[in-house]
Amino acid sequence: MSSTECLMEDTPTQENVFKEGLSAERTTSPCVIVLFGATGDLTKRKLVPALYNQVRNGYLSPEIAIVGFARRDKSHEEFRADLLEGVREHSPYYTDGDPVWQKLSESIFYHQSSFEDDKGYQSLGTELDQIDRELGTEGNRLFYLATAPEYFSLIAKKLGEAGLSQSNGLKPGQDPGGKDGPWVRVVVEKPFGIDLDSAVDLNQKFLDVFHESQVYRIDHYLGKETVQNILAFRFSNGIFEPLWNHKYVDHIQITVAESLGVGGRGPYYDKAGAVRDMVQNHMLQLLSLVAMEPPVSLEADAVRDEKVKVLRAIREIPKDKIKDLTVRAQYQKGSISGEVVSGYREEDRVPENTITPTYAAFRVEIDNWRWAGVPFVLRHGKRLPKRATEIAIQFKKPPMPLFSESTVDTVHANTLIMNVQPDEGISLCFGSKVPGPDIRIRNVKMDFRYGHSFGMASPDAYERLLLDAIIGDSTLFTRKDEVEHSWKFFTPILEEWEAMGEEGLQFYEAGKWGPEKAKDLLGSELRAWRKL
Ligand code: BG6
Repeated sequence: MSSTECLMEDTPTQENVFKEGLSAERTTSPCVIVLFGATGDLTKRKLVPALYNQVRNGYLSPEIAIVGFARRDKSHEEFRADLLEGVREHSPYYTDGDPVWQKLSESIFYHQSSFEDDKGYQSLGTELDQIDRELGTEGNRLFYLATAPEYFSLIAKKLGEAGLSQSNGLKPGQDPGGKDGPWVRVVVEKPFGIDLDSAVDLNQKFLDVFHESQVYRIDHYLGKETVQNILAFRFSNGIFEPLWNHKYVDHIQITVAESLGVGGRGPYYDKAGAVRDMVQNHMLQLLSLVAMEPPVSLEADAVRDEKVKVLRAIREIPKDKIKDLTVRAQYQKGSISGEVVSGYREEDRVPENTITPTYAAFRVEIDNWRWAGVPFVLRHGKRLPKRATEIAIQFKKPPMPLFSESTVDTVHANTLIMNVQPDEGISLCFGSKVPGPDIRIRNVKMDFRYGHSFGMASPDAYERLLLDAIIGDSTLFTRKDEVEHSWKFFTPILEEWEAMGEEGLQFYEAGKWGPEKAKDLLGSELRAWRKL
């Protein structure tokens, strides 16, 4: 069946979605965006192209200014030229001489300072006041911390000391991060802490200076269309939710596979490893969206309250079970798409005896009424055969095998697959009779694909998240307690892995689907990791 059969005549296209613009409560106010780490890769590759796209498409007020705050010596002109290179390369809309970019670039400034220097923050304050006067940005400020994580708390502290963390024009009782201006908000990149203690400490450092409503902890997976669609799919359809529980679901598989290795990020990655880099944040977000109860509304806190309940219900893995319920591994030399690639220990600036895992898998149980007894198995790895992120809901088999095993081509039960990337969509697998005189059953797939149904490409996650931070909608950002609960689960595991050293560390050939041992996590011979 083609999914277009269900569409109405006014199916949105990229063009009419832009024309419609945002709903009244989602309009943006003029503001200054201060990018800390302005000469870094994220600013050039993601943040500025995302801001440009949003202005270009009419979602973001054109009265914005961008101030880059970084150590390197650079003129405004040089900074603008660097950013233009990024826009050219990463925005699908840019064409030479685009007047939107020309206008935006006149409101881009460079502020040279080290992150430690008090004077740099004082002069930043003066510059922001001047921008407000000249460009009408109304005292609204978004500080974006796209720096190495060791600078997060320092920058927060310095912003506080320079009097920049709160707006001057705040009226008594007004929420400093609320929608009524003038507002001040701070977006913090990941990783937010490296374990429970450091996350608690970092939260405290931010809350010494900002109010929680001002702090936007970013997890770019939440900005992906397909991830947002998990809630829409679950709670805007009547037919799936009744099945979404232990009575009908056998287990749930969440896979985030990457074919890339660590590239030039060896020193960062070797400190982080697979769990801190991907699992504690991105994958646990996927899990909480799939497992959460319906929120009472779509208000930020209503959604986040339900996510936190799931995180609180995840059963802690006791020390003596860590060996059975977790798997960690490192890639070795292998080949991907015909290209020979080196092992993790041979990567640039990675210690040759490192035990940092590049693959991690877990069997997680959620101790609540809905999910009692349903395993959630999570796997993530670098240098796997392909890039693919999906959530597969594996339903229980029919109660009685009416069709004998010999007539069924595969023994798979129904599976609902939410493809997060790259093949964005949702598929339902079910058994169907093969045409012919015999009764033979084969698994077939009913597919919904975003590109096909909506005729447009999904925007980059940063576009949505930057827009939300400017609008003042924190639904897609991680709250303090969410971060702490996720670390609470992973910290004892990471500590035990560290204590075990090389013992228990598995290896896998690059280009293969991870170590054999990951199969043990499924807990039954009748279950298998999905072949992607
Ligand atoms: C980042 C990780 O958060 O997410 C990277 O630090 C990873 O290691 C990236 O490659 C994956 O993001 P995406 O959007 O390409 O799946």
